[in-house]
Amino acid sequence: MLYPSRTDIPDHVPPERIADYDTFHVDAPDGDFAAAMVRLRDSGVPDLFWTQRNGGHWVATSGALVRHILEHGETFSNRAMRVPKQANPAVPIIPLMIDPPDHAHYRRLLSRAMTPAEVKKLAVVARELSIGLIEELEPKGQCEFVADFAQQMPIAVFMSMLDLPPEDRPVILAIVGRIIRPDVPEMRHKGFADLADYTMAKVRGRRAAPAGDLISQLTRAEIDGRPLRDDELQGLMSVLMLAGLDTVASMLTFITRFLALNPAHRDDLRARPAIMTEAIEEFLRRMAMVNLTRELAEDTVLGGVTLKQGDLIVAPTALCNFPNDGEGGEGGAADDWLKVNFNRPRIVHATFGAGAHYCMGSSLARAEIRIYLEEWLTRIPDFAIAEGAALEVKVGAAAMIPSLPLVWKVRG
Ligand code: HEM
Repeated sequence: MLYPSRTDIPDHVPPERIADYDTFHVDAPDGDFAAAMVRLRDSGVPDLFWTQRNGGHWVATSGALVRHILEHGETFSNRAMRVPKQANPAVPIIPLMIDPPDHAHYRRLLSRAMTPAEVKKLAVVARELSIGLIEELEPKGQCEFVADFAQQMPIAVFMSMLDLPPEDRPVILAIVGRIIRPDVPEMRHKGFADLADYTMAKVRGRRAAPAGDLISQLTRAEIDGRPLRDDELQGLMSVLMLAGLDTVASMLTFITRFLALNPAHRDDLRARPAIMTEAIEEFLRRMAMVNLTRELAEDTVLGGVTLKQGDLIVAPTALCNFPNDGEGGEGGAADDWLKVNFNRPRIVHATFGAGAHYCMGSSLARAEIRIYLEEWLTRIPDFAIAEGAALEVKVGAAAMIPSLPLVWKVRG
């Protein structure tokens, strides 16, 4: 299926609110996605504009509007999570694509996988794997960070969460790649179909031989006094794969790019381990990379503009994290927000979203970032981006640097 690359402009879109913008392409040759989003905001585009690309949709570029959209799910529905509309999966990803009130029932089913005790257990797996990987990499003096480390830890955590066999790892990686960063948008459908086949094969296996793992628990779970249907099970398992793998890999890669370029921050983290919690929060603020999408459930007026039921709107989470002068913010001038400052008095961000769909894996994600920072900086304290490496940013639901070659001096 081919999606229209450009669409007609609907009558309700005022001409002064039109800009030519492709949400899947960003001008960030230095690999700094969030800074590119700030440049877009400051480029003179309206704070809410319409683009004809990718099926035609709105884009909000002020932090206040993005937050408003995320916090008003009754108007800005999650039933579409991507542009164009046709790119959305036929079977909803649950609870991500479900609106209140049903959303809460489904969300509860997954919450037992995200308790502090569960996160602690998963952190043990993540730390063991990280130490093993880094100790293997260190004597080589180089690596391609994304494939060699960033994707490995979240996959190990996800597989442990669902008790999946290690040999499934390449299959999972391939499916995630097709869905999150397809070469052509149509490839996403193939990714969703593969994901459905994979997850349902696992469900059938656990139905035949139930155990204590999350998949088995979900096959026994009930909603409104009835067992979950296959499509619901599929949606619930898909979310863990879609929401938990690429986001963490992407965040680790953006942080590592920054640390490779900023030795003073590396030294600071090693010298003052007590600031780790604040440092993680500041990295999360500075490196936000999820552009959310909502569908208008009803006509509404936003920022003085009429939006119509069925319109899609892209809400970049990063733009909540860099208040511009008009939006105040306690941290100082707009420029200052682009700096990574571990000593900010107060760090507020929407990197994990806001409102009813706030990320369920935020504690797990923070634990994974901490483990990476602690174990990597202990074993590979000084590193740089390989000379001549060309960085690029690929944008899907989450933006990502697909390849980050690193070098360091091997310790004698
Ligand atoms: C740095 C890493 C991560 C980032 C930046 C991130 C970001 C987000 C964002 C922005 C949302 C809101 C989606 C929306 O409003 O439509 C979200 C939802 C969600 N995230 Fe994360 N996430 C991360 C890691 C994780 C991890 C590790 C997991 C667990 C496996 C996870 C599980 C979820 C789930 C289940 C939802 C859906 C919640 C709902 O719809 O109620 N995330 N995430």
